Amino acid sequence: MSVSSFGSVPLQKIHSFALSVFTTALYLPKQESEVPEAAEKATYFIGEGSNLLPLGDLSPLLSTRYLKGYSLIREDAEYVETEVAAGENWDAWVRYALSQGWYGIENLAAIPGSVGAAVVQNIGAYGVEIAPFVVGVYGWHKSLKNWQWIPAEHCQFAYRHSIFHEPAWRDRFLITRVRLRLRKYFAPVTDYSDVRAKMNPKFIHDPWYIYQLIRSIRTNKLPIRGSAGSFFKNPLLTPSQLNQLREKAPNIPAYETPEGLYKVPAAWLIDQAGLKGYKRNGAQVYPRQPLVLVNTGTATPEDIYQLALHVQSVVREKWGVLLEPEVRILPPAATGE
Ligand code: EPU
Repeated sequence: MSVSSFGSVPLQKIHSFALSVFTTALYLPKQESEVPEAAEKATYFIGEGSNLLPLGDLSPLLSTRYLKGYSLIREDAEYVETEVAAGENWDAWVRYALSQGWYGIENLAAIPGSVGAAVVQNIGAYGVEIAPFVVGVYGWHKSLKNWQWIPAEHCQFAYRHSIFHEPAWRDRFLITRVRLRLRKYFAPVTDYSDVRAKMNPKFIHDPWYIYQLIRSIRTNKLPIRGSAGSFFKNPLLTPSQLNQLREKAPNIPAYETPEGLYKVPAAWLIDQAGLKGYKRNGAQVYPRQPLVLVNTGTATPEDIYQLALHVQSVVREKWGVLLEPEVRILPPAATGE
């Protein structure tokens, strides 16, 4: 196992906000047998660091980024089941799956981060979430000191949520492998408005066309570096909360969820509060997608954090809606740790 330690390990290249922060030790297991010892020593478990805001120098970290590999579990005429190591890059895996003729996840093209983190966060984009493709996950339970298989039914998947976010599991259970069930037939999902607006119907039966289309929609909107994607979640409102909001914002779009709640776009609330492009030192509300906060190159952790608090308080004051961070905020290590 690689261990970078002894004082100060720079984390600028280990997380996508690219802030100048350090840790006392970074554990990088390359195989499952190295996980228990590394997990014991690490305070935080991370993947590629694409959904993190470190507020300063951090306690020891374990990153799964070197846990690599995948295997075919079973297949029939319609489906294939594969097991993918948590440290595989998500987008590279999507491309590999497409190259094998395995479909379903192409709308999740170009989402930064690792396969393990994709499950923890239940990544979703352009009308598709990872949850329905997950059969289960395998990993090490640090407190119980055993390996466990957690079937998808126990993962409590919801919008940008899984059980692995809960305090009893976060930094306690390290996913090392994810079992996915993909389709061998291609069924394009094109109901998302951006996809419908940009697609050429002539090509929608070509999975690589959909992959490239999603990739280009994303890259037109999202910064290439210096962010953690959407900083906040889209709020889920009850019907009465939506009615209250509509008194102030009659034109806000809202999408009903199967649970009878209404998802409203946080980007709209931030945009219509006049915050698009708003800057605090090196931190900015990204002009092309205001749900994203970006380090323009010189931001400190405090700049990003204060900007997030500002966005939250302006939106709350103007619209009466509390935006919850989607990004994981890591507190600095206590001095001397
Ligand atoms: N909008 C504005 N102004 C803007 C941009 C957007 O008002 O400048 C409004 C529009 O009404 C637009 C709506 O916001 O229709 C939604 O915008 P968009 O399609 O960009 O999606 P989003 O809801 O802001 C979510 C995910 C993204 C994902 C996209 C596409 C969350 C927290 N974010 O963003 O995920 O790529 O949908 O499906 O659910 C991420 O999690 O890091 C991420 C980028």
